[in-house]
Amino acid sequence: MSDDFKRLAAVSALEEVRNGMRLGIGTGSTAEHFVRALAERVAEGLEIVGVPTSERTASLCESLGVPLATLDSCPELDLTVDGADELDARLTLIKGGGGALLREKIVARASQRMLVIADESKQVATLGAFPLPVEVVPFGLRATRNAIEAALATFGHDAPISLRGGDTPFVTDGQHHILDIELGQIKDAGALSRALLDIPGVVDHGLFIGIADAAYLAGPGGVTRLVPVT
Ligand code: A5P
Repeated sequence: MSDDFKRLAAVSALEEVRNGMRLGIGTGSTAEHFVRALAERVAEGLEIVGVPTSERTASLCESLGVPLATLDSCPELDLTVDGADELDARLTLIKGGGGALLREKIVARASQRMLVIADESKQVATLGAFPLPVEVVPFGLRATRNAIEAALATFGHDAPISLRGGDTPFVTDGQHHILDIELGQIKDAGALSRALLDIPGVVDHGLFIGIADAAYLAGPGGVTRLVPVT
């Protein structure tokens, strides 16, 4: 059922795609529905060029005939469409459940607009039930993890941190690892973001603040288009 909602959200967002657009293309199961629907429109004559946010999305696009460019050859994008693991009323997001958060954020920030596509269960009153992914360089992993713990303590968080993949650590497209932090509740996303980014071994984190312009959420009642509550 949730997969049907993901597809519905993805297809709805496709209505904002226009001929000639340079599109950032997200990663994850909802973004895959978007790619499949986009490929059908391309086969019918829609002209777009896509910049994928992961090797996985690039492979899917290539297999379905969606024209691709790199962000280097096409550094300014019109629109990015991507999924999310959680979103709140301000359209602050947690992303990175699929491990693509760094490229996703780079691509979204290079876009004039970003649309989120998700089943409505991803909308929450307070972010943080979904573990926050933090992308870190492998060098000095323990020191980085200690620094993250110390930073979290200043926010009163004593949150479990786990290395994704455990003994066989997950490796991102950028050759980094991911630490997942079980925060439970994130009260001040901006302050947490700044504190994490201040740690040298942290490459980026899955909080997307002030990036999403709208969200298509699908559920039993249909599709809703949300814009950020200010
Ligand atoms: C990938 O790294 C993530 O940011 C995904 O966009 C997010 O995990 C949503 O994935 P699903 O669409 O599979 O729920």
